[in-house]
Amino acid sequence: MGSRLIFFLIISSLLCFIPISHATRPTPDDYSPDPIKAANLGGWLVTEGWLKPELFDNIPVNKDLLDGTQIQLKSVTQNNYLSAQNGGGSTIIANQPTASTWETFKLWRVTEITFQFRVLNWQFFGIDDNGNLVATSTSSNDSDSSHTFVIIRKDDEPNRIRIKAPNGSLLQVNSDATVTADYTENTNWGDDDPSVFVMTNVLQLKGEFQVTNGYGPDNSTSVMKKHWNSFIVEDDFKFVSENGLNAVRIPVGWWIRFDQNPPRPFVGGSLQVLDNAFSWAEKYNIKVIIDIHAMPSSQNGWEHSGTRDGLQSWGQTDDSIDQSILVVDFLTSRYANRPGLYAIELINEPLAPGVTLDSLKKYYKSGYDTIRKYSNVYVIMSNRLSIGDPIELIQFASGFSGSVIDVHYYNYASIFEGMTVQQNIDYVYQNRSSALNSLMVSNGPLIFVGEWGDGMEVKNASKNDYQRFGSAQLDVYGRATFGWSYWTLKAAQNQWSLEWMIKNGYINV
Ligand SMILES: *[C@@H]1O[C@H](CO)[C@@H](O)[C@H](O)[C@H]1NC(C)=O
Ligand SMILES: *[C@@H]1O[C@H](CO)[C@@H](O)[C@H](O)[C@H]1NC(C)=O
Ligand SMILES: *[C@@H]1O[C@H](CO)[C@@H](O)[C@H](O)[C@H]1NC(C)=O
Ligand SMILES: *[C@@H]1O[C@H](CO)[C@@H](O)[C@H](O)[C@H]1NC(C)=O
Ligand SMILES: *[C@@H]1O[C@H](CO)[C@@H](O)[C@H](O)[C@H]1NC(C)=O
Repeated sequence: MGSRLIFFLIISSLLCFIPISHATRPTPDDYSPDPIKAANLGGWLVTEGWLKPELFDNIPVNKDLLDGTQIQLKSVTQNNYLSAQNGGGSTIIANQPTASTWETFKLWRVTEITFQFRVLNWQFFGIDDNGNLVATSTSSNDSDSSHTFVIIRKDDEPNRIRIKAPNGSLLQVNSDATVTADYTENTNWGDDDPSVFVMTNVLQLKGEFQVTNGYGPDNSTSVMKKHWNSFIVEDDFKFVSENGLNAVRIPVGWWIRFDQNPPRPFVGGSLQVLDNAFSWAEKYNIKVIIDIHAMPSSQNGWEHSGTRDGLQSWGQTDDSIDQSILVVDFLTSRYANRPGLYAIELINEPLAPGVTLDSLKKYYKSGYDTIRKYSNVYVIMSNRLSIGDPIELIQFASGFSGSVIDVHYYNYASIFEGMTVQQNIDYVYQNRSSALNSLMVSNGPLIFVGEWGDGMEVKNASKNDYQRFGSAQLDVYGRATFGWSYWTLKAAQNQWSLEWMIKNGYINV
């Protein structure tokens, strides 16, 4: 053989072992990383009001009545609460002296002053043929005026309200406790007026849907762009790189795939901000984990899932999974060739039992295959929350090379109430540590503590307490095979802000 031929054979046999296409399957050996130390960029591209409360400050009208706000309504004449019988499906009666789930209604904000009301079993308020207030229809939309009511508030006592029904008459409570849409009198707001209710605001959601719909179509785009361009900036990536961290986990919402034209009320522009994040990350040698944090139809009902009203129905239809796969496909194809891309997390905090193991596995399989069409990056699969068995996905995930299981560890829950600082630390060294060990099996997926924080259910903990608790967690979570990510880089409350904790000497990575 001539030397040319030998050279050719050597080169071609070498090429067989070099991944020449980005679609080449990696071998398990490719996936033995140095564990990452990351900061979550929470509250940036997916709004969470508690991380930056002032984002909501300038909503001009009814800013305490955003989408998903839970209210209770007490008739002043009956001194009883409106109640959806059996949680919904029939009439609303003003007959309950105390308020609980049947008496709690979730708002849809249609305009600044018009609303739809959703009962426990998710039906909407409407008026039947006899003029009675009922909750029978499970479907509605903003342009469905038959379910839309006006809330009229008393000027100097805004929790005293009247409610105008779709046909223009006011709701009134009759002496038999029925509620009808046939009152037309003026009011002096007295306790003798059957159209007056006292409204209790039980709970508010402050997520992306709420802030964008709260500001409305004219102003939400400018408000969000201002937020995106100021909350996290290039300097933050520099800060991350200079303080012992080497990655960021960036929560994004499903609407990002629509670029400039997402369905209302979401606004376009977060995609360009994510592009910027990649440029900054690459400049400072920071790895990027894209975390699909808010799923279509909501995987947990919490504000950070992008929900309108708290209804969790992701995974219950094939459509919600198909829509999610389009998000995965869009993001992976856009960023596959960016050197900063390190991992894609398919979903954040799917909540059991609403999200079933079967639907989640179906999504993970399809999401994994979608990512592998473009890239060999790590594929992060989140554990479900509220499960007894933390290892339920380990065997399943073992079948996918480059897969990672994400677990979130916060010492906030009733079991931590009353614990001392030392008991919190012991819990990390014993319970968290053994939970992590049970997840890290040979030939299994890598394990990622994708969210944790230094907060405790301890009143007036000292700086030294936070330092000890923080270093215990760094010690234990530092053993996680994929690494960890602190929640979150910036927050209004100091112990949730990794930036503040580092700058003030509470945490040293
Ligand atoms: C609204 O419907 C009720 C019940 O059918 C009726 O009594 C009332 O007159 C209607 N109001 C208007 C403004 O049509
Ligand atoms: C919204 O509701 C109205 C009234 O029920 C209906 O005519 C319309 O088709 C609905 N639109 C959508 C998009 O479902
Ligand atoms: C939009 O913002 C301007 C001032 O910035 C304010 O005057 C106006 O009321 C807002 N419009 C809406 C619909 O909120
Ligand atoms: C933590 O682990 C200890 C020792 O295994 C166990 O006795 C205790 O019940 C666990 N605590 C909780 C709150 O699960
Ligand atoms: C915490 O500190 C505040 C102010 O320093 C004090 O008023 C309060 O009593 C303390 N609470 C506890 C539980 O020590």
